[in-house]
Amino acid sequence: MARLTNKVAVITGGANGIGRSIAEAMAAEGASIAIGDIADDAGAETVAAIEASGARAVYRPCDVANGADIKALIEAAIAEFGRLDILVNNAAVAIGGMPVHEMTDAQWDRLIATNLSSVFHGCKHALPHMIAAKSGSIINMASAQGHVGLDGWTAYAGAKGAIMSMTRQMAVEFGKHNVRVNSISPGTIATPMNEKVVADLGEHVAKAWVLMHPIGRIGKPEEVAEAAVYLASDLAGFTTGIDLRVDGGLTATPRFLPDLFKPDDA
Ligand SMILES: NC(=O)c1ccc[n+]([C@@H]2O[C@H](COP(=O)([O-])OP(=O)(O)OC[C@H]3O[C@@H](n4cnc5c(N)ncnc54)[C@H](O)[C@@H]3O)[C@@H](O)[C@H]2O)c1
Repeated sequence: MARLTNKVAVITGGANGIGRSIAEAMAAEGASIAIGDIADDAGAETVAAIEASGARAVYRPCDVANGADIKALIEAAIAEFGRLDILVNNAAVAIGGMPVHEMTDAQWDRLIATNLSSVFHGCKHALPHMIAAKSGSIINMASAQGHVGLDGWTAYAGAKGAIMSMTRQMAVEFGKHNVRVNSISPGTIATPMNEKVVADLGEHVAKAWVLMHPIGRIGKPEEVAEAAVYLASDLAGFTTGIDLRVDGGLTATPRFLPDLFKPDDA
């Protein structure tokens, strides 16, 4: 039996990568999907693919750095589908190579607005509906990077660490309303985000990623999506306040070594 029948999910950053996989996997389990993203063409394409599979989906342009956009996305989902059961705060940008003392205030502010304040805004606007319904599942996308360190990633990792802390906090705060709040920490996953990192930094990074994961490869977006489906479903009804690591063992090892990221001839 489908695990998300009659549920409605809002997914930020659902046009590409992990977010798209989550949207497709939740739709396949019976959910109706509202996607917010800044990649309008890819968003429309994702909606078309979900509709072609027989499920319902809508796309709405939404810059998650802007709280008003997120509010409008959630209101649009409720106007279209009549309820809200699942919020996946997934959209983020991966920007590394920025030692703290070289980061501009503008770079910091933009990253925190996109990767962290977005989670606050998503929760702030979804929670009143979930509290009224006495039911809801919020899934925040954290990262292995929130558990371990890497040169130049303080802002990104800081946002992810804060997301995990906020997740625990909100799980405690809203458990009495039967609203569950969990996060997922993926390891390195094959998505457009990482294709860009390799294009920017070099192939040696892709080789290092494989070495870092005890499972011997990087992950697939569908493997993160499966975790999200579980956390969203009633099967996870007693699971709240956790961070689910979908990381091929990355954070279980001391292999997360910055030296691996140097080119062979360095
Ligand atoms: N790919 C990985 O290895 C990895 C690892 C750990 C955590 N994550 C996290 O998983 C999530 C998804 O990552 P991904 O690899 O699928 O990324 P991606 O870049 O492949 O896709 C991200 C999506 O978010 C959208 N987006 C970017 N900025 C936005 C904004 N301001 N407003 C709305 N949408 C915006 C993009 O258009 C895109 O559709 C992120 O939170 C990321 O930090 C990814």
